[in-house]
Amino acid sequence: MFRNLSKYALLFLFLSLSGFIFLLRNMHTVESWNCHTISALYQLQTRIQSSLLSANLPTYNPNLTFCAHLGQKPSAEDELEERYLLNSIQWPGPPPRFAPPTLRSTSDPVHSFFTILPGKGRREWRLGDQLEALVQVHDFQGRPKRYGGDFLLARLHSPELGAGVAGTVVDHKNGIYSVFFPLLWVGPAQVEVTLVHSSEAVAVLKHLREHRPDRVFFKSLFRLGFLSEKTVCNMCLPPDQQPLCNYTDLYTGEPWYCYKPKMLSCDTRINHAKGGYLKNLLSNKEALLFQSGVNIKVQIRASGRDRIDVLPPEAGDGDKVTPSVRLTPSGHYFNSSWRPQGGPPMRRFEDSAAVTQCLRNKVINMYGDSTARQWFEYFLTFVPEIKEINLHSPRNVGPFMAVDTTHNILLKYRCHGPPIRFTTVLTSELRYVSNELDGLAGGPDTVVVLSVWAHFSTFPVEVYVRRLRHIRRAVLRLLGRAPGTLVVIRSANLQALDPEVSLYNSDWYSLQLDTVLKAMFRGLDVVMVDAWEMSLAHHLPHALHPPQAIVQNMIGMLLSHICPETRPSRE
Ligand SMILES: *[C@@H]1O[C@H](CO)[C@@H](O)[C@H](O)[C@H]1NC(C)=O
Ligand SMILES: *[C@@H]1O[C@H](CO)[C@@H](O)[C@H](O)[C@H]1NC(C)=O
Ligand SMILES: *[C@@H]1O[C@H](CO)[C@@H](O)[C@H](O)[C@H]1NC(C)=O
Repeated sequence: MFRNLSKYALLFLFLSLSGFIFLLRNMHTVESWNCHTISALYQLQTRIQSSLLSANLPTYNPNLTFCAHLGQKPSAEDELEERYLLNSIQWPGPPPRFAPPTLRSTSDPVHSFFTILPGKGRREWRLGDQLEALVQVHDFQGRPKRYGGDFLLARLHSPELGAGVAGTVVDHKNGIYSVFFPLLWVGPAQVEVTLVHSSEAVAVLKHLREHRPDRVFFKSLFRLGFLSEKTVCNMCLPPDQQPLCNYTDLYTGEPWYCYKPKMLSCDTRINHAKGGYLKNLLSNKEALLFQSGVNIKVQIRASGRDRIDVLPPEAGDGDKVTPSVRLTPSGHYFNSSWRPQGGPPMRRFEDSAAVTQCLRNKVINMYGDSTARQWFEYFLTFVPEIKEINLHSPRNVGPFMAVDTTHNILLKYRCHGPPIRFTTVLTSELRYVSNELDGLAGGPDTVVVLSVWAHFSTFPVEVYVRRLRHIRRAVLRLLGRAPGTLVVIRSANLQALDPEVSLYNSDWYSLQLDTVLKAMFRGLDVVMVDAWEMSLAHHLPHALHPPQAIVQNMIGMLLSHICPETRPSRE
């Protein structure tokens, strides 16, 4: 029925639904209306309108991908949004060339350097100011690069103060990059700039993403009586080689295929599992662009000093300073504790009793990849009152459930649907998040946690956009029928990269997905836990499953939203 509505009706339904939910949630706290939320809604509206009016966005060539066109054709508005999103993550690159570059002419972190620019009109920095550094990237022969596209990460930190914040990198597309940091604490602050991949390496990653979505493959076991067969499965398989089994989801239209077993029928599929990773994806020349300690995640040195001392604001200067960074960070660390920008302040949970008190009468549903499972495991480890129930699920796969009957707390975890890269998920337990959300009653005692990103990095971004579109619709339906449901989305995080991992799970892929994720849920009544910035701003090494200290801060944010500090009224 939903699908039969005309495309414009659907658009306005979506817009008005999101507006309506926003209104409902904020009715009792009118003073907390903030321009950000309103402008985000407004932006979405104008963004779609303006793209309806003008077709001046550069067109994205859908023929570059062989995977994206499978599945239901998106509606006209969905297509416009997708075009907008894909444009927003366009990445500059080296000029096109016939032969792959030789290593000598590619970006070299050792020959590159950054310089801290003097403070505006004075030689000192004060709280609330903005720090800018210029990065000049050079190649292995020491020549300045003439084009952009290098993937840099930047953070400002102070080990002494347990402080850190993510920097914003601006690519001037000529080998020079600006890095901006807001100054959010008084005291020492040190700049750190890292070359994650050269622009030449990013071009290789981009090519792999569009042309080799088969580089991670999956398998399923088919069984009937004594007969069993295994075949290869994926989001898309070449249709002209062998007969296929079509497991496209009836509700969402999410595509999934396996090669048909020789003897058994398609409905004897009993499980889904990660098959493996294709090797030898790169030429010898390309492989040189991915070397640990040479051009994967290597720090760039400072020419001159790399640290400054931030002074308290000048008297009477306090409120005037507004950093002009284009993107403000979502928070920063101080005293090793995350301080989110906006939203309720972080509460301290001294012991497990404080946590069970906060979670009393709550049902927490966690869905996603292993980074969502990590949250579930955190509660099992640190809150002894919450005990796991043995559902006889496979290790690390789930579904999992834990309870605290004294405080009436229920915790659940379930992995997301294909392309989940877990060991072996039973077909009967293989569900799409959006369908699961449709099965929730929801309400003020229901919390939903979503973390869906890590297993999408080998596919063209359209595949992820489509998945998030389905999840977003289900979230809006849930918030519509059960206002007060708390939906928390955990974004992507940085991870340890070596030459091999880079080709499947590079932070560059994650960043592109993360940008899309944040844009698609911006302005909606959901809480975004910015795992990207929380892992970037922290001093501990990047890891797919971030260290406990970071997870603790994420859980702190979750709990602070479930039971915010009750503050005395200001009136
Ligand atoms: C994509 O390919 C189809 C045929 O394979 C062609 O008709 C269509 O014009 C192409 N689209 C673009 C944007 O190149
Ligand atoms: C698979 O099934 C879906 C839904 O039934 C259908 O839309 C799609 O065209 C099918 N795919 C192929 C390759 O036949
Ligand atoms: C820093 O955190 C510790 C606990 O981790 C706390 O005892 C201390 O008071 C905090 N210091 C400041 C300056 O906030």
